[in-house]
Amino acid sequence: MVSDCPVITIDGPSGAGKGTISHLLASTLGWHFLDSGALYRVTGQACLLEGVDWADHDAVSRIARGLNIEFRTAESGEVLVAYKGVDVSREIRTESGGRGASTVAAIPSVRAALLLRQREFRRPPGLVADGRDMGTVVFADASLKLFLTASAAERARRRYKQLIAKGESVSLPRLLEDIEERDARDMQRSVSPLVPAEDAIVIDCSSSSIEQVFDLVMHEVKRKCLI
Ligand code: DC
Repeated sequence: MVSDCPVITIDGPSGAGKGTISHLLASTLGWHFLDSGALYRVTGQACLLEGVDWADHDAVSRIARGLNIEFRTAESGEVLVAYKGVDVSREIRTESGGRGASTVAAIPSVRAALLLRQREFRRPPGLVADGRDMGTVVFADASLKLFLTASAAERARRRYKQLIAKGESVSLPRLLEDIEERDARDMQRSVSPLVPAEDAIVIDCSSSSIEQVFDLVMHEVKRKCLI
């Protein structure tokens, strides 16, 4: 699909800092924002709510095709996600929400069902799209493609700090195991696996702060004359 409306894609594994950088970039540019992971997370959650087994591919695809989802920005600036009008933002952000998303995301017909929905986010003045296959499949004609990554150990450590700060009791080795399992599922699936697009700029965020990564990203945005 070719369109005049510019898109910047930010792909990579979970916990590399994509979400924070994508939000910051969209608000700096005044562009729209697509959190494609939320669509897969809500699909997994909707299955739980509707009593559908993640292993029943036909039923999961039906859920994805009819997904009643709405994004709202709260006064605090937080993006809230509703399924059938009910806020599910908290449930979809749990570790099991991530596992469900990664499981249903490996089903080809689910990915096909969510493809057009993702492309509908492309509206002037531009779109920042966060996910796994934004640069390779959904917006293959993007103006700028970034792939943010970090070692699994560092991503587990960051996630551990976040959860501890929220008062949750978690085990670091268990988190690392979950992250490695999710990476393997996302990278080895038959459709739209997690890989950098050939023309993506790969940024390793293992030992960089959010500010340092954002500076690098803005450098690329300026180089492409997108600002
Ligand atoms: O970005 P996230 O952690 O919210 O994504 C949750 C899961 O959804 C991730 O493990 C894989 C899947 N996903 C995907 O397959 N394709 C995308 N474009 C976004 C997410």
